[in-house]
Amino acid sequence: MNPTTKTAPKTFHVKSFGCQMNVYDGERMAELMAADGLTHSANADDADLIVLNTCHIRERATEKVYSDIGRLRKVAGKQGRAPMIAVAGCVAQAEGEEIVRRAKVDVVVGPQAYHNLPGLVARSVAGGAAIDTDMPVESKFDAMPARRRVGPSAFLTVQEGCDKFCTYCVVPYTRGAEVSRPFAAIMDEARALIDAGAKEITLLGQNVNAWEDGERGLHDLIRALDKLPGLARIRYTTSHPNDMKQGLIDAHRDIGSLMPFLHLPVQSGSDRVLRAMNRSHTTDSYLRVLDRVRAARPDIALSGDFIVGFPGESEAEFAETLRLVDAVGYSQAFSFKYSPRPGTPAAEMADQIAPEVMDDRLQRLQAALNRDQQAFNAATVGRTCDVLIERAGKLPGQMLGKSPWLNSVHVIADAAIGDMVRVQITAAGPNAVTGRIQP
Ligand code: SAH
Ligand code: SF4
Ligand code: F3S
Repeated sequence: MNPTTKTAPKTFHVKSFGCQMNVYDGERMAELMAADGLTHSANADDADLIVLNTCHIRERATEKVYSDIGRLRKVAGKQGRAPMIAVAGCVAQAEGEEIVRRAKVDVVVGPQAYHNLPGLVARSVAGGAAIDTDMPVESKFDAMPARRRVGPSAFLTVQEGCDKFCTYCVVPYTRGAEVSRPFAAIMDEARALIDAGAKEITLLGQNVNAWEDGERGLHDLIRALDKLPGLARIRYTTSHPNDMKQGLIDAHRDIGSLMPFLHLPVQSGSDRVLRAMNRSHTTDSYLRVLDRVRAARPDIALSGDFIVGFPGESEAEFAETLRLVDAVGYSQAFSFKYSPRPGTPAAEMADQIAPEVMDDRLQRLQAALNRDQQAFNAATVGRTCDVLIERAGKLPGQMLGKSPWLNSVHVIADAAIGDMVRVQITAAGPNAVTGRIQP
């Protein structure tokens, strides 16, 4: 074999797929590479090092990695360049060396090991591929440079991993066991984020409401964050129905900066399917949690995740999911066709559902969810609320931001990114609402 002659990269680009935690990890990797002396390149196609921060949740997400690598190589080849490619994230954790065999990438680094990215890049420059998919006991967060510049709405990972083992899901395998970051480290990072420009912080975790540090639960963390000067809004995601403790529900009533929005995945409206999924809650226990949340914060906007076509799901069981959707009235939601994942129990179950049946169910579910989203948006018309401006819109003078209920708001305003403006909602579309600045 010819010795590879690689030169150390000078520029880098990080591309993140999947969930918000991956977006957060991508930002941290970018800060790490910048601290190591590399320059960020806005475009993947002219970077010396491309980091693909990947998602393994469904088959299509995983396959996207390989097609992306092919496409990036082709574009670079036309320019006579051969950028280094690092695969990070959940596909890196799940497939490890296989990625090197299949796509000849330079670096493979798992979600719990990315603090080693600069060292792995250096090792690969010296020759061959460098792989690190360890789940070390020491925390990667301790090895990371401080946050410098962020947008008005920032993510902060407080909890990682999952011990729930839903039978369809790869997250417990790719992210490892449930670990909560210490209270003090989170508060330090929150202060750094506020200094770096954040007005809103979204606390992230695969089961964020299971966060704990000694006697403290997530609501204690939220109460402490609420006291930080300069922080206007707090959100958290994703929660598990069984970890929705009364303290957290009460926080929605008591804490003004905790936004009236809750993403609480349910997956199915059939108790038999929920049991087969190992969800450890029923439709009834889920609905009772929502009742308590609504009692504490009547205007709360609710969101969820759904899977259609789980092995063995009958038409009658799917109809129960539609009934649950009708009963809740979500403001928005995500719905997916079941995707069998290697190594998960559900992938081995009999009675896998035909693709055309899944397509049909997904369509019907999404029609119901879209109807409710539209209805929710329409119900906000006439309300006045604060909007945190996050970016410029397409029209002249138009700015885009989020309402407390997380709908996207378009407004013509003489406002800067990061401003909190008072807006009256005047019209609603399917995916966003329009408002007018209030004097
Ligand atoms: N921790 C969160 C989210 C995990 S992943 C939770 O407990 O809900 C985000 C969503 O992806 C899940 O809520 C589920 O709806 C979906 N998902 C996970 N595995 C899937 C699979 N194998 N096929 C289809 N959708 C899946
Ligand atoms: Fe996956 Fe279930 Fe854990 Fe959510 S709770 S990450 S769906 S195993
Ligand atoms: Fe995907 Fe991993 Fe997030 S599988 S959804 S990137 S935790």
